[in-house]
Amino acid sequence: MQKRKLGNSGLAVSTLGLGCMGMSFGYGPAADKQEMIALIRAAVEKGITFFDTAEVYGPFTNETLLGEALAPFRDEVVIATKFGFKDTGDGSGRWNGLDSRPEHIRAVAEASLKRLKVEAIDLFYQHRVDPNVPIEEVAGTVSDLIQEGKVKYFGLSEADAQTIRKAHAVQTVAALQSEYSLWWRAPETEIIPTLEELGIGFVPFSPLGRGFLTGKIDTNTHFDPTDFRNTLPRFSQEARQANQALIDLLGTIARNKDASPAQIALAWLSAQKPWIVPIPGTTKLHRLEENIDSVNIILTAEDLKEIEEAASKITIQGDRYPEHLQKMVGKS
Ligand SMILES: NC(=O)c1ccc[n+]([C@@H]2O[C@H](COP(=O)([O-])OP(=O)(O)OC[C@H]3O[C@@H](n4cnc5c(N)ncnc54)[C@H](OP(=O)(O)O)[C@@H]3O)[C@@H](O)[C@H]2O)c1
Repeated sequence: MQKRKLGNSGLAVSTLGLGCMGMSFGYGPAADKQEMIALIRAAVEKGITFFDTAEVYGPFTNETLLGEALAPFRDEVVIATKFGFKDTGDGSGRWNGLDSRPEHIRAVAEASLKRLKVEAIDLFYQHRVDPNVPIEEVAGTVSDLIQEGKVKYFGLSEADAQTIRKAHAVQTVAALQSEYSLWWRAPETEIIPTLEELGIGFVPFSPLGRGFLTGKIDTNTHFDPTDFRNTLPRFSQEARQANQALIDLLGTIARNKDASPAQIALAWLSAQKPWIVPIPGTTKLHRLEENIDSVNIILTAEDLKEIEEAASKITIQGDRYPEHLQKMVGKS
């Protein structure tokens, strides 16, 4: 698989990464560990060099999974992880608010290094902007960790343009990881122009709309009771029904290109900028292969115009997060 550069940072990764969250967290019970190790290793064999995790996924078990799965390929891959949530500390594995105080960032880095079995964290993102800690202080702490050789590159997630600028002035931001896909296009207004100006790469999370953009989820789909999507307004029955129009559009384009809706959703993202690297997540080998094949789909200027025109007539229904989580994410 070809590589892409994440902005001007010097960090190069495969055109498509692999989001590993759903293997341990978020979308129902964790998948079988040995099966996930095999899946991650299959991804490496198929050319993926960019793997995404966070301490909160599990919690902790997703980082441990990646550490074990990727140990034989350490020098070939880039592992990204994240800090910034506050552990309740009661052993329940629950998170309560944000914590990007320097001492906490340092403690998370040390723990993540152990779980990932690496000497340096390749890309260390702040998971959410902490309103109680100036971003300059956060960037300064990660800068110190880089000087000490414990971290290689710095990233942000769901930060607004002003925060990105302030952080980048202290320590080069290699990548922003925020939600971006055909059903969440707010980053186009201010974020993407800012990233372009500053030479920062963009890693869209939930590039398949948490599965919806694949066309495999409809009003009849029942999620496991522990599945996070049960809490998202965008996955309510009404929203799923209304947003089906976008799936119909993807289906039409997919038929013309002899591709699947998931592949069109990913190819569309990659076509937006040469420094965008989506990280779709899956727990299934055949879907991993399907997603990887999207890198061979070329959307022409005419295809992109057709998608743009049709998409502009569709109003997406439902907030992407429930209210308490919506407060923590970028609006633009
Ligand atoms: N920074 C943040 O705050 C943040 C937030 C959310 C996610 N992330 C990162 O972004 C990664 C990707 O996002 P995501 O997992 O939320 O959403 P996603 O990649 O948009 O979608 C994942 C869902 O789509 C399904 N799927 C994947 N490929 C498919 C295909 N070809 N056909 C049909 N279904 C398919 C998966 O189910 P199966 O497993 O059954 O295939 C899974 O339920 C995560 O793993 C995580 O690393 C970061």
